[in-house]
Amino acid sequence: MSSETTGRSTWKSRTGFILAAIGSAVGLGNIWRFSYLAYENGGGAFLIPYIFALLTAGIPLLILEFGIGHERIGSAPLAFRKIGRRWEWLGWWPLLFTMFGIVLYYSVVIAWCVDFIFYSFNLSWGDDPDKFFFESFLNLSSSPAEIGIIQTPILISLFIVWLVSWGIIVRGVSRGVELANRVFMPLLLLLTLVLVFWSVNLEGAMVGISAYLKPDFTKLGDPNVWISAYGQIFFTLSLGFGIMIAYASYMPYNSNMTGSAVITALANCGFSLLSGFGVFAILGFMSVTQSKPLEEVVTQSIGLAFVAYPKAISLIGDAGPLFGVLFFLSLTVAGVSSAISIVEAFVSGAKDKFGINRKKLATLLCVLGFAGSIIFTTNGGLFWLDIVDHFINNYGLVMAGLLECIVVGWFFRLDIIRKHLNKVSKMQLGVWWNWVIKLCLPLFLTVILLNQLIRELSVAYGGYSWASLIGIGWSWIGITFLVSFIFAVQPWKTDNHLAKGRGEEL
Ligand code: TRP
Repeated sequence: MSSETTGRSTWKSRTGFILAAIGSAVGLGNIWRFSYLAYENGGGAFLIPYIFALLTAGIPLLILEFGIGHERIGSAPLAFRKIGRRWEWLGWWPLLFTMFGIVLYYSVVIAWCVDFIFYSFNLSWGDDPDKFFFESFLNLSSSPAEIGIIQTPILISLFIVWLVSWGIIVRGVSRGVELANRVFMPLLLLLTLVLVFWSVNLEGAMVGISAYLKPDFTKLGDPNVWISAYGQIFFTLSLGFGIMIAYASYMPYNSNMTGSAVITALANCGFSLLSGFGVFAILGFMSVTQSKPLEEVVTQSIGLAFVAYPKAISLIGDAGPLFGVLFFLSLTVAGVSSAISIVEAFVSGAKDKFGINRKKLATLLCVLGFAGSIIFTTNGGLFWLDIVDHFINNYGLVMAGLLECIVVGWFFRLDIIRKHLNKVSKMQLGVWWNWVIKLCLPLFLTVILLNQLIRELSVAYGGYSWASLIGIGWSWIGITFLVSFIFAVQPWKTDNHLAKGRGEEL
């Protein structure tokens, strides 16, 4: 079979593959992003659009990405090249904006978590975690244009984060990524269970949990709640990143791919729901111990993990430092297992096309990644992070997902993928799935994109200057888009692209 003849790496087992996929999916986004969105968008009411988005977009699209990678046997660029010569760029673009966009700031947030593990020991934030985080730790300037200087503690941890990622990736798919996730995922589950159990037993926890579960149905009429839910599903399931395609391509022929996609999606969202209990219990605890209404304990998204949690940790008393170490350690583990997935996906793409050896590629990417992240460790870093995150999440990921559906649905025989998936999987996909990919998803995603775009053009996002938004946000999207074409027109150094897909071989 071609997987062996092309020397493609493989996972040792299906469990290893699923754990790695869950490792990519479960990240910082599941803990603080999900909880904050739930909190902001009507507590329990958010769960309705969230689950709706999971079922209508998340699961069908994850099945599609697994299907593309497995049937075409390739990383995103190779798989799209095999779908059609003119689509190769669509494989490169997500890899580029994730590797040279999302992961650059994402690794800096992991670096903050690493620093906060140490700060937890002696509660370094003192009585004013807000002041500590924004003024002492980030030393935030007043606008993105004021870059200022690098914050050394962040830089040091950032270096460690990239070093660890490098150490995992150079060891390869099964001895590196798979093994790391075999350790990380059970560890993360254990840490989370301990934290959730601990949190729900704190005084006042129930106040928070009832806010989490009590739906505010009036919010369901607000389109922004739905947009947030769809955006979160993309981010959390690593959809439109090009990662799941590469991961699926490492599976041997007879593998239940559809089932794996469903398990990955449910495990990921189950993890979010679970950690939501912990986060809201903490909010309830803070509101009761400080006699403040729940709405006042959190002010903004990043503040949830780095301001509200430190405050709660100080209130817990003697065991606070232990709680803090466990919390920030769990964020670090969740983050690293996601960060390595994009480096792996890029390595996979570049290896497929240029045949460069893994060690060299991994080293180059980690060095570039570290260098590129440095801008986010400066005094203006948080503003850059916010802008890049906004543009890549709202436009990059959704647009990549939309284009994927259109290209595979309308410019390729989608049935090849569906029939292949049905041949290797227990769970059978009906023709309805084709229509979800060809019509429903493109429709949903277009509405979401247009709605966002209208909002974008009417008010400057986050009150930033238009110059910053265009100079940082739009150009990040635009430049990676152009570079994807430059990559795509380079000649192939291997003949991987000449091989057939699995569905056509038979
Ligand atoms: N799914 C992750 C989360 O919820 C995000 C993520 C996946 C990611 N892969 C990534 C972030 C690669 C950066 C790089 O947090």
